Amino acid sequence: MSSLKKIKIIKPDDWHVHLRDQDILEKVIKYTQMFYQRAIIMPNLNEPIIDCKKAIAYKNRIINLSKNKQFTPLMTCYLTKDTSLKELQHGFTEKIFIGSKLYPNQSTTNSKTGINKISEIFHILELMQKIKMPLLVHGEENNNNIDIYDREAKFIEKTLEPLRKIFPELKIILEHITTKEAVSYIEENNSPYLAGTITPHHLMLNRNNMFVHGIQPNLYCLPILKRKIHQNALRKAISNGSTKFFLGSDSAPHIQKNKINQIGCAGIFNAPSSLLCYITVFDEMKALKYFESFCSKNGPNFYNVPINKESITLVKKPYKILEKVSIGKDFIKPFLSGETLTWSVL
Ligand code: NCD
Ligand code: ZN
Repeated sequence: MSSLKKIKIIKPDDWHVHLRDQDILEKVIKYTQMFYQRAIIMPNLNEPIIDCKKAIAYKNRIINLSKNKQFTPLMTCYLTKDTSLKELQHGFTEKIFIGSKLYPNQSTTNSKTGINKISEIFHILELMQKIKMPLLVHGEENNNNIDIYDREAKFIEKTLEPLRKIFPELKIILEHITTKEAVSYIEENNSPYLAGTITPHHLMLNRNNMFVHGIQPNLYCLPILKRKIHQNALRKAISNGSTKFFLGSDSAPHIQKNKINQIGCAGIFNAPSSLLCYITVFDEMKALKYFESFCSKNGPNFYNVPINKESITLVKKPYKILEKVSIGKDFIKPFLSGETLTWSVL
């Protein structure tokens, strides 16, 4: 398989991306559309997407700024303790929302209105289980006394496992998983109600990469990059063909002056290369035979939406990643900017 020079797959979807709004949205949207037919758009704007009206307006802004009119943005509802059940049910049955997003309070960018105690939203989760609305989860305990490298594993133990006992048929996506604990939790449960997404950067890097020649703020993201043992567990997970894992790039653009600041923002902008990064890893792992299901089948099957009809062809040909994306006087630095990957889109 590794001598394969060309691979044609069903057009993938990105099941977790941040497109932001206004001038940033306008500049970054085309990169996501280069590779993906659909994408789940994260709702953590400065003013989060907490109801149908906001979701419809945001979706329209995305569509209006899109050159590629085939692309479908899939919207999510940012859960707060005050989320209205009526609103959520309406949004899901009318297909305004594909799911709801749980941010533990202060766990990441724009999560200050996130959930403090999971029991605050049990009534919401009960409804979601009943109507089969997926719950997308930022799975990190938000307790500063817990070591940042342990917050995902602790979340599984202290929040997710008890939650799944109470709501056994709630569909849960543990997003951007980063640890061997998350991999084995998903694999061992092997449940139709539990899946995980994996980012290109967590597959390609580990925490050492954040400290090469000094500190590398552009590699700071949440959940933070972990030890190599965890990186290897993720690489193994995608290589064994499990249908419980699928593509979610977590491309999260921040303008450079906000990355390199007294307090630097978390997030890696990988949209210009995400699919090429994934194929590089599958190729390195000699697992290209599972590439299409990870990118294009496992996600739609889990979310219960049709698999795309379109296709995309990737070729083993060098591809140089662009240096920067200008935003007015400022810019966003892409993941691996200026570096050359071995795969490109035909
Ligand atoms: C994301 C962002 O900037 O919105 N940041 C990140 O490091 N991944 C939020 C998130 O998904 O945690
Ligand atoms: Zn994210």
